[in-house]
Amino acid sequence: MTDINPYLELLESSWHRRYVDAFGLRKVSAEAAWSAVVDEKILGEEWSTVGHTPLVEVPGPKHGARVMAKLEWHNPTGTVKDRVACGLVAHYLLAAPEGSARKLVEYSGGSLARAMSSVCRAADIDFTIVTYPCQPGDEFYDYLASQGATIRCITEEQVFLDLMTTCRQIAEQETDRFWLFQHHNPLNAALHEASTGREIVRQLGDDRPAAWVASIGTGGTLVGTARALRDAYGDIRVVGTTPSEAPYGMIADGHNIPVYSGSGGHGWGIRQPLVRQADRMSHRNVSKEVSLSGMRHFRDLTGMQIGSSAAANWIIAFEIAATLDPSETVVTVFPSAGTPTDLAEAFESVPTRYPRLVDDLLAHGIR
Ligand SMILES: Cc1ncc(COP(=O)(O)O)c(C=O)c1O
Repeated sequence: MTDINPYLELLESSWHRRYVDAFGLRKVSAEAAWSAVVDEKILGEEWSTVGHTPLVEVPGPKHGARVMAKLEWHNPTGTVKDRVACGLVAHYLLAAPEGSARKLVEYSGGSLARAMSSVCRAADIDFTIVTYPCQPGDEFYDYLASQGATIRCITEEQVFLDLMTTCRQIAEQETDRFWLFQHHNPLNAALHEASTGREIVRQLGDDRPAAWVASIGTGGTLVGTARALRDAYGDIRVVGTTPSEAPYGMIADGHNIPVYSGSGGHGWGIRQPLVRQADRMSHRNVSKEVSLSGMRHFRDLTGMQIGSSAAANWIIAFEIAATLDPSETVVTVFPSAGTPTDLAEAFESVPTRYPRLVDDLLAHGIR
């Protein structure tokens, strides 16, 4: 039986603030951290190209609103998480007390692990990643090891929340190693407000979007970008995409259920803090099966290979667009071009497309 009390303590809103204060980090804004990356090249030339990704029209319903998607695989390691990795590392470098040890720890089941290990290598930071069981010979493990990260795996019996308590233990044992804590760190959302959100506003100009749709991992992308869009355009509709098998705020115990990438409820009714603290959001569910078939369907329509969370976002954006006027716009994000596992499942293991998705979307016709 999992004891959830240690997680509840961590997720309480003041825990992270107390931890940051005790570590002695100075106050540095997300904007300052972001411009240190892109303007001052604090992480080197290679990382200054992060962000500024294309916003393009993608297939939408024939008689509905147009759907625009931000293509995040244009980032250096190929995912939206490069923004957060660069921003958090730059923030640490600017905010850490004089003579700090340049040691970080963070947990991730996927994209952030890759991004963090690469950014830390570039910044000469000693990085420990806490992740799901993996071993030498796995593509994921070998990539992290090639970037010089120290890899700590939880056990098969443990759940997502154990990644967090393992990080906490490491940070308590090695007091000079700072834990970034992506689910609770307000900078996660603030970096998306300063980068993803402001970029979309510049790209759309006066074309006010009717809705913003993004999948929830930590909720940083959804919530931070929504803040910038609402700041520019007023109270637009904000919709979080979440897995049908493990929806946001799910009550069941959340034991490692397969879902589309980078997403999933924690279980026990726990709601991701960044999302819980945000106003006026709604949620829509997409199953893994439907997102994988969305990947195939999208490639057939466009020739473009998108990841499973991108496909989930596309499906929800498409459904919302079908209820709107053709003069309107729905904006979403395509976090990656797909993990090797999702790509193999979507394009090799699944023999046929799933009729529900094809029927529902194609019934509208494509604009
Ligand atoms: C592929 C993918 N999509 C979406 C997300 C969600 O991002 P966020 O943590 O900002 O909610 C992630 C997060 O890791 C991801 O890896």
